[in-house]
Amino acid sequence: MLSASGPRAGTLSAMCGIIGYAGRPDAVAGISAGGHGALDVVMEGLRRLEYRGYDSAGVAVLTPLGIEYRKKSGKLANLVAELAAAPLTPATTGIGHTRWATHGGPTDENAHPHLADNGRLAVIHNGIIENFAELKAELLDAGAEFVSETDTEVAAALLASIYRGDGDADLAKSMQLACQQLEGAFTLLAVHTDSPGTVVAARRNSPLVVGLGEGENFLGSDVSGFIDFTRRAVELGQDQVVTITPDTVAITDFYGEPAVGTEFHVNWDAAAAEKGGYDSFMEKEINDQPQAVGDTLLGRSDVDGRLTLDELRVSPEELKNVNKIMVLACGTSAYAGQVAKYAIEHWCRLPVEVELSHEFRYRDPIVDSNTLVVAISQSGETMDTLMAVRYAKEQGAKILAICNTNGSTIPRESDAVLYTHAGPEIAVASTKAFLAQITAAYLLGLYLAQIRGNKFQGEIKDILADLAKVPDKIQQVLDNSGQIKELAQLMKDTRSVLFLGRHVGFPVAMEGALKLKELAYIHAEGFAAGELKHGPIALIEEGQPVFVVVPSPRGRDSLHAKVVSNIQEIRARGAKTIVIAEEGDDAVKAYAEHVFYVPETPTLLAPLLTTVPLQIFACELASAKGFDVDQPRNLAKSVTVE
Ligand code: F6R
Repeated sequence: MLSASGPRAGTLSAMCGIIGYAGRPDAVAGISAGGHGALDVVMEGLRRLEYRGYDSAGVAVLTPLGIEYRKKSGKLANLVAELAAAPLTPATTGIGHTRWATHGGPTDENAHPHLADNGRLAVIHNGIIENFAELKAELLDAGAEFVSETDTEVAAALLASIYRGDGDADLAKSMQLACQQLEGAFTLLAVHTDSPGTVVAARRNSPLVVGLGEGENFLGSDVSGFIDFTRRAVELGQDQVVTITPDTVAITDFYGEPAVGTEFHVNWDAAAAEKGGYDSFMEKEINDQPQAVGDTLLGRSDVDGRLTLDELRVSPEELKNVNKIMVLACGTSAYAGQVAKYAIEHWCRLPVEVELSHEFRYRDPIVDSNTLVVAISQSGETMDTLMAVRYAKEQGAKILAICNTNGSTIPRESDAVLYTHAGPEIAVASTKAFLAQITAAYLLGLYLAQIRGNKFQGEIKDILADLAKVPDKIQQVLDNSGQIKELAQLMKDTRSVLFLGRHVGFPVAMEGALKLKELAYIHAEGFAAGELKHGPIALIEEGQPVFVVVPSPRGRDSLHAKVVSNIQEIRARGAKTIVIAEEGDDAVKAYAEHVFYVPETPTLLAPLLTTVPLQIFACELASAKGFDVDQPRNLAKSVTVE
């Protein structure tokens, strides 16, 4: 449930935390005499924003002598140690960043800030700049030099080149012009030695809020960045540039036209602010899913519009010769693999096996140099999957990782990597990482279809266009979640729930059951709907709740009809049927106690929508029982033991 004022639009995306500060020397908020001014404010903000990214962190301050900065890979504590070892000159203007890597691993070099204009400009960034490869090529031609692998350094170099050209050495104007050239999702903050006391920022498809103080102003990815100092905030609109000084806040669009933001009062406490106003990280992460899927789709094409992977240490020729895919993963990630199987087999005409990592090693699996092992792991550290990967590698298999944690062990030991861009997942039970994994697996299927020539470029484009519509459709499911929450509240004393699905709905059913077990400690099982008559139907008795994930009636006729008859079979035996179906599927109404509709989408992509009501149901029911949904009993986020 949401707290009083509810979460605010545009403040929910995770992936990097950003803070900016401009204060008068006499007004550095909340800092006791003898404090360090901007640095203290920025570090406090980063501490609050660390949940948004924790693989590296950095700060830059504007001093009378120029820009000084420190950045360090690893947790914020590493930056704190670095600052203690090499202190910065006191300052009243600064920016800070806590990173969740997308482009480039979590190294000191790739950490933000990135400098340009001979060290006179410092930039930090949250998001993904889709056309960074083209921009980088142009900037390299023009003589720019790069020391990192990041898209952020490209934005910094672009800003610097505009600043010295059409931008007339005006930082705000240069930011507007730079943003006109950038594609994708970004929040950018910049300071320049020519503009003391000033931070210029911009946003597109990525969050940024302004905090209003007395003689000082703040910028943050969300209000938790400055909640210790002020509760007056301004939400920026899409495609806006904001310039803050200690006494002024000026907003324009990307073309310099004055704009206004929406002022609001923050009535959350600091803990709620980190959760974007939600009661739990789980709830926030369920609501982050449009962004997680959208970001995972961003920046995947090269200059010729062909799909690319993040890291490829194996030749496309070798990938072409693959004759079998073996997905290795555990838990929710394995269910993502099962969804992927349907899509990859269909698109690439390649056999796909999905195996639990811990089972794989203890039989005699048949893998060789023509096998592509796809290791799916949110954390990239799951010991069972890591060991399975090492074993498969010894047998000569090529390894491709789908992972949410840049630079973690599994992608490091793999031949190719496709990162999910869900941002850090804090709640122990996986939600947004699952949808991002499915999205990445679809991208992998399309990539393989592209290099193997199974699909024409136009067909791939059409599927990508369908995928691009999914984030908005997930949002619709989230916006219509009131009914499923009510049902969860009503069912809080239920002792057992079954889940049925067929085709891609089967892994969705198993994921729905797993979420309910993990969060609400209720007996729950997911079955293939066709398997029912082979045994599980004996479980059905009067009042037994059964969720049924129904395939689209627009897809293969037989599939829909079969599931509808499964519903009839269990209903006739007293089951209370709760159906997840596609909008317009009126046929199911007659057999369902409750129907929850999701928007129309191609059958293979449907799990990205049908999973969401099941996550919401589990989260709401567990909350109604008074359980801690972020840290369910007996579970750990990253299972680093076998
Ligand atoms: C369930 C869940 C787990 C993980 C599994 C694998 O909600 O989170 O089942 O999916 O432990 O973890 P990763 O993906 O980090 O390898």
